[in-house]
Amino acid sequence: MFDDLRFPVIAAPMAGGPTTPELVAAVSAAGGFGFLAGGYLSADALADRVAKTAELTGEPFGVNLFVPGGAASADLSEHIERWRTEAAHYGVEPGEPQWDDDAYAAKLGLVLERKVPVVSFTFGTPSPEDVERLHANGSKVAVTVTTPTEADQAVAVGADALVVQGFEAGAHRGLFADEAGAEGGGAQYGVLSLLRLVSARTDLPLVATGGLVHGADIAAVLAAGAVAAQLGTAFLRADEAGTQPAHRKALADGGRPTAFTRAFSGRPARSLVNRAVTDFSATAPSAYPEVNNLTKPIRAAAGKAGDPEVMSLYAGQTYELAGSGPAASIVERLQTEAREAATRLSRLR
Ligand SMILES: Cc1cc2nc3c(=O)[nH]c(=O)nc-3n(C[C@H](O)[C@H](O)[C@H](O)COP(=O)(O)O)c2cc1C
Repeated sequence: MFDDLRFPVIAAPMAGGPTTPELVAAVSAAGGFGFLAGGYLSADALADRVAKTAELTGEPFGVNLFVPGGAASADLSEHIERWRTEAAHYGVEPGEPQWDDDAYAAKLGLVLERKVPVVSFTFGTPSPEDVERLHANGSKVAVTVTTPTEADQAVAVGADALVVQGFEAGAHRGLFADEAGAEGGGAQYGVLSLLRLVSARTDLPLVATGGLVHGADIAAVLAAGAVAAQLGTAFLRADEAGTQPAHRKALADGGRPTAFTRAFSGRPARSLVNRAVTDFSATAPSAYPEVNNLTKPIRAAAGKAGDPEVMSLYAGQTYELAGSGPAASIVERLQTEAREAATRLSRLR
């Protein structure tokens, strides 16, 4: 799986706007592979994107889905009050902090109906029965994992490939369960460490992801045994990406560190540090998607107003090194850099 790509780069699914059919099609045309982001969308909106992408490219592409978790038991009242002040500032009402399952069953039905060739899952594994349904339909299944234990669980349900996510990665950690600690509890693995540990446990194809922004990084993870590298932040400022202007500007300006925060969504996610991250992270409860639904209209209003201090500026640790321009030129640069890295490695012979 993914070993037949002309260039083993995968455009990561980026829910919330950045991923567009145009981005997926452009990366496919340049010899890579792209995932549409199914998260947050209604099944109808995802169906439109699948249809649009199929119109733009004859190449195969994937769809990523969020596996729903349980309803939150945390007390949200303090966090709600904090966000209420921001909402008042923009003259909007906070969203309802309610649980939902992200229309999981309907979207799974859609990818089955459309026979999407690769379906990837984040925040958990699909059930073994759903994996069987996808297999029977000709689809391959990839699961994002952040620890060796999660890798074992993904192998156990019958995944065909694992997306091995290091803590460098932008936006949400793919954690199966969010536990205590700013980063979601448990051990934190960098992408190379996790790749090594997971490849010691399984022969499944591994896709490396997290902080990979240069062709040399792609060469590095291939050398470490990955079949491909999945890049998110590297494409956030691509012409074809749907990234909001204020987010693009904050990325281009640089100068901000990144940090894990539950402030925006109730799940640990890596964002550029802004006022919301600084002020709200310490008290942000583990309550996804309740907090995400709460803050959504406020973040949208901040985005419209071009205010980077209250938006979720999700990005990986190496964001300052990511470029802009057409996705094809970004892929071309990565390819040149990867080849240069491979030449440097030839001294090992
Ligand atoms: C803005 C943004 C949104 C993301 N949304 C998703 C998503 O919907 N599903 C998913 O599996 N991963 C998502 N990711 C994580 C990527 O799949 C990938 O692991 C990450 O981008 C890798 O780190 P990098 O951003 O440093 O390349 C997102 C990443 C970013 C930056």
